[in-house]
Amino acid sequence: MKKFFVLSGSPRPKGNSNQLADQFIKGAKDAGHEVISINAYQINLKPCLGCNACWSKGKPCILDDDNELLKEAMFDTDVIVLVSPLYWFGFSGQMKLVIDKLYPFIPKISPQPSQIKESYLISCCFNAHESEYDSLRNVYHQMNEYMGWTSKKELLVNNMVSFGDINKTKYLEEAYQLGYNL
Ligand SMILES: Cc1cc2nc3c(=O)[nH]c(=O)nc-3n(C[C@H](O)[C@H](O)[C@H](O)COP(=O)(O)O)c2cc1C
Repeated sequence: MKKFFVLSGSPRPKGNSNQLADQFIKGAKDAGHEVISINAYQINLKPCLGCNACWSKGKPCILDDDNELLKEAMFDTDVIVLVSPLYWFGFSGQMKLVIDKLYPFIPKISPQPSQIKESYLISCCFNAHESEYDSLRNVYHQMNEYMGWTSKKELLVNNMVSFGDINKTKYLEEAYQLGYNL
């Protein structure tokens, strides 16, 4: 049994990316795995100030926000699943804000590093070319390197123009199988 942290950065609860995340979660739960799910647009996080005072008040971030929710997710899980629509060739703003707040958990520099060892990337975008994802993939790969994660799979779906387009594809089933067959 594994424990998953599914971090979604789509502001659309039933948008294409979140539908993939829901299927991934369903598959993982059906296979007996545990999931902690956080939607970036639903939690109250203030942006990182770069003050380098992480952990100085006994919690990941000194700011008065929901940063302790990230502590549970980063300490109690083995695998992270990053889910985001592609916005301007990268993560959504909501997602970037949360990613900045993962700074207190970086194994190389943190007194309280995360134990997560594996990662997945799930994203949807409008345009058809695979290269649309180059920048996002580059950031994701660098994050893996820095966090000590091994990337297990990138599920990147092009041609998602409108709300609900994902329903016409094979990718919901693929996301379910990814969660199920870990
Ligand atoms: C602010 C914004 C920026 C976007 N940037 C890109 C982009 O760089 N490349 C692209 O192909 N699609 C882009 N899109 C389209 C979305 O990635 C696409 O509609 C996606 O399917 C939305 O996912 P969601 O349903 O999970 O919200 C952008 C959409 C928005 C709102």
